[in-house]
Amino acid sequence: PVKVTKICCIGAGYVGGPTCAVIALKCPHITVTIVDLNQARVDAWNSPDFALPIYEPGLVDVVRQARGRNLFFSTNVDKAIEEADLIFVSVNTPTKKSGVGAGFAADLNYVELATRRIATVASSSKIVVEKSTVPCRTAESMRTILEANSKPGCRFDILSNPEFLAEGTAISDLFKPDRVLIGSLQTQEGKDACESLKQVYANWVPEDRILTVGLWSSELSKLAANAMLAQRISSINALSAICEATGANIDEVAHAIGYDSRIGPKFLKASVGFGGSCFQKDILNLVYLSESLHLPEVAAYWRQVVEMNEHQKRRFSKRVVDTLFNTITGKRIAVLGFAFKADTGDTRESAAITLIKDFQSEKALVNVYDPQVSEEQIWLDLQEASPLVPLDAIKKQVTVSKSALEACKNAEAVVIATEWKEFKEIDWEAVYAGMNKPAFVFDGRLIIDAEKLRKIGFTVTTIGRPSAIL
Ligand code: NAD
Ligand code: UDX
Repeated sequence: PVKVTKICCIGAGYVGGPTCAVIALKCPHITVTIVDLNQARVDAWNSPDFALPIYEPGLVDVVRQARGRNLFFSTNVDKAIEEADLIFVSVNTPTKKSGVGAGFAADLNYVELATRRIATVASSSKIVVEKSTVPCRTAESMRTILEANSKPGCRFDILSNPEFLAEGTAISDLFKPDRVLIGSLQTQEGKDACESLKQVYANWVPEDRILTVGLWSSELSKLAANAMLAQRISSINALSAICEATGANIDEVAHAIGYDSRIGPKFLKASVGFGGSCFQKDILNLVYLSESLHLPEVAAYWRQVVEMNEHQKRRFSKRVVDTLFNTITGKRIAVLGFAFKADTGDTRESAAITLIKDFQSEKALVNVYDPQVSEEQIWLDLQEASPLVPLDAIKKQVTVSKSALEACKNAEAVVIATEWKEFKEIDWEAVYAGMNKPAFVFDGRLIIDAEKLRKIGFTVTTIGRPSAIL
């Protein structure tokens, strides 16, 4: 097996950046160059004051230690490809917006362009690693492209090494992964390439946590893991609707079922709906794959996980309207949190976007506050959600606030959309004093002490609990 000394990572995003920065930190003998076509992103990774393009706890420390030592960020894609022994392809694979499979299939254009670039530029043999989440058998297409375009004497071995980090905990997930998964062809060359990558991870990951499997199993395992995780959330959210109607309490139910060691306690938090760039995209991708394989019942099964999630978001906004005496026209609603989960500035598919859009169509006024999301990003997302409404009109209805307290001022209702720790520690007495009465709180994340707030005077509505005592 080749001993890897130079790594190139194509794509300096949420996955490529943190993953390869950690590899550089843990493997001082390997030179890691992360490249991207987006100059602004690369400049941010290189910024002297570490104003990195993504917010992730612990990331700045990692970059501070490794950058300039054996970690480099660059837009010179060709040079990094040429010099590397091993290349991660960590580009975006969003859901296709048009053409065959629109709305379901993964858009593999970026993966293909990166692969073609490798084939054009490489003048020596490379191990090419799929880090992006891709449909099952993408490695085969990559191999065909590489082999059809390679220079004499160059061989390409393709591995699948999907990434399981979650945003907000990326650095701790990378430091101590549950497992690292490497898929390869079961030929001698494939196994050797697999061993080369395994030796990179073995610098800090215990060997019994590095799983080596066939290429197609590896690709499918990534989609399967995300589908199973999202399915748990849709299951608990479906149960939250039953709790609201019966008087059962979803936290108590989750606790009780989570005690069964076969079910386990994690990932059973009812919410206003899952968001993030992965769950919906990867399930839709699995739905598309199932349909292409003529498995309509399998496709329908997984599609329901996404439909349940859409239902949960709609159900929550309807509950807000119902509780506020069936109209929110002209009423001011504070939305606390815009990111899709706490400890990230990422807003992709965030439930908050859907909620605010619903409130806008009910003609409410919205104050939104998030500790990490920039005002610019909020406008971009709201504009994308309502492409036919001019931004000026959106800005007449929505205001971006500088603090939770400011957002709640003169509001009729507070809606908690993201589970930021600081929302647990709000001075609710001060919030109550500044709000119109009756003052309502809607907890979409099960983070507040409802009894305490009721004592202050709030009317509190919580996911997975009935509005009135049944
Ligand atoms: P991202 O959009 O943050 O980053 C992708 C980067 O690739 C962008 O900066 C883009 O400019 C760059 N890029 C695209 N084409 C390029 C090319 N030809 N050459 C150079 N750079 C190019 O995406 P992400 O969130 O990092 O996700 C990347 C992949 O990892 C996706 O397939 C995603 O499904 C998967 N994934 C994401 C997560 C997550 O939590 N975000 C977790 C696991 C897996
Ligand atoms: C997910 C997977 O967890 C990760 O393994 C994969 O690599 C990428 O996709 P991510 O989307 O970053 O990670 O965050 P995750 O913690 O999984 O949360 C996804 C969404 O589900 C968030 O909106 C979160 O708030 C929500 N969620 C999570 C719940 O509503 N309830 C839960 O119990 C857990």
